[in-house]
Amino acid sequence: MGPQVPLITNYLTQHFLDDAAVGLEGYERLGGYAALRRALENSPADLIELITSAGLQGRGGAGFSTGLKWSFMPADGELPKYLVCNGDESEPGSFKDRILMERGPHQLLEGILIAAWATGAEKTFLYVRGEYERPAEALERAIAEARARGIVGTNVCGSDFAHDIVVIRGAGAYICGEETGLLESLEGKKGQPRKKPPFPAQYGAFGRPTTVNNVETLCHVPHIVNNGADWFRGFGTEKSPGTTLFGVSGQIARPGLFELPLGTPLDELVFEHAGGPAADQRVKGVIPGGLSMPVLPADQLDVPMANEFLRERRTMLGTGGVMVMDERTCMVRASVVIAHFFRDESCGQCTQCREGTGWIHKLVERIERGAGVMEDITVLEDICAKMEGQTICAFADAAAWPIQGMLRHFRGEFEAHVVQRRCGFAESFEL
Ligand SMILES: Cc1cc2nc3c(=O)[nH]c(=O)nc-3n(C[C@H](O)[C@H](O)[C@H](O)COP(=O)(O)O)c2cc1C
Ligand code: SF4
Repeated sequence: MGPQVPLITNYLTQHFLDDAAVGLEGYERLGGYAALRRALENSPADLIELITSAGLQGRGGAGFSTGLKWSFMPADGELPKYLVCNGDESEPGSFKDRILMERGPHQLLEGILIAAWATGAEKTFLYVRGEYERPAEALERAIAEARARGIVGTNVCGSDFAHDIVVIRGAGAYICGEETGLLESLEGKKGQPRKKPPFPAQYGAFGRPTTVNNVETLCHVPHIVNNGADWFRGFGTEKSPGTTLFGVSGQIARPGLFELPLGTPLDELVFEHAGGPAADQRVKGVIPGGLSMPVLPADQLDVPMANEFLRERRTMLGTGGVMVMDERTCMVRASVVIAHFFRDESCGQCTQCREGTGWIHKLVERIERGAGVMEDITVLEDICAKMEGQTICAFADAAAWPIQGMLRHFRGEFEAHVVQRRCGFAESFEL
């Protein structure tokens, strides 16, 4: 964890910075579950209005309005309806949800219960990445504690509202983080995304209306209920309110998790909070939002970390997983690593994705080992352009964007590999 979490904005992280607050007693000592009790006194419609006016946007990557998503759930009383909490956290470079689940399980349960009340869900499937053993155990323990105290169960906090939460262990594939791939996996099938529409609010888990929300998204909810929409809008930018968790990794002095307002400049995050690169190095490029987001070169790090600004630089916030590369890094080699990951993780349903990810990997790998020709670079661009917006889910876009980013900003390195017929970065990481 980063040592420099600013006290003024650490409402999300205060729970997991305090060892004692991981359990129910400690969480309640910090005011835990007061927001749930308050929420139960309000109508679901009022809660949806509150979250919409706070401007909370999903923290799972797409940045969709949480209140609006909740409003899509049918308001009739017909059950079952479900909530799915997406704890798959499959995006390389992202590790915020792991810490939130492991160190602040009751904060998440409180967010889940409020969201369930607002959307009329009778059960939550908490889908936790398969490799995340400790987070899953922490959640199981917290659910048992909450059940024993009547916080989860037939009369949530003594009310007429009944809600159950079950932990489901993930299936170990990146695509099970995509919400409909997750739903298929949850139902015991192969994790392959569904065609949309219908969206999960109409046809979700087991064919029933379902809301899917990311772990971090739900962790913000109790704080908004406690403090109000204006308070939340006091952080961040007008279009991207609130704080978020930035996970900084790579060639950086102080890798870690930093809770900061959205709109914090990327250079402030990298150089001040995360301590910058090693003493004798300079930053070469930064991936701002997890592996699927296009890289930014060193001269573009003055950008505020919010989608409205990042889009102008042709990248996005994604999951806030910031990966720093210094000047020793060969960007063609980095592209091979990226391409290899997406080739292996494509679920194979769509031709453009299945074939495109394979071709991208073959071409960048060939260029990297010095066997490429100039035409490979234009073919790469062509393949990437043909993968965008053509497929069942956004995975194909996510596989093309980082390669497009590398070609946009570091094309010279690809060309140098072709001309010199070798990689010129002796100090870069090994493949
Ligand atoms: C390929 C792919 C992988 C994804 N992986 C995750 C993930 O690991 N965790 C997550 O919360 N959302 C992931 N998403 C986004 C989900 O589909 C969905 O938008 C999100 O869980 C909704 O929650 P939110 O509105 O609270 O952000 C992924 C999307 C795609 C296209
Ligand atoms: S885009 Fe790729 S991952 Fe998504 S459904 Fe198609 S083949 Fe599967």
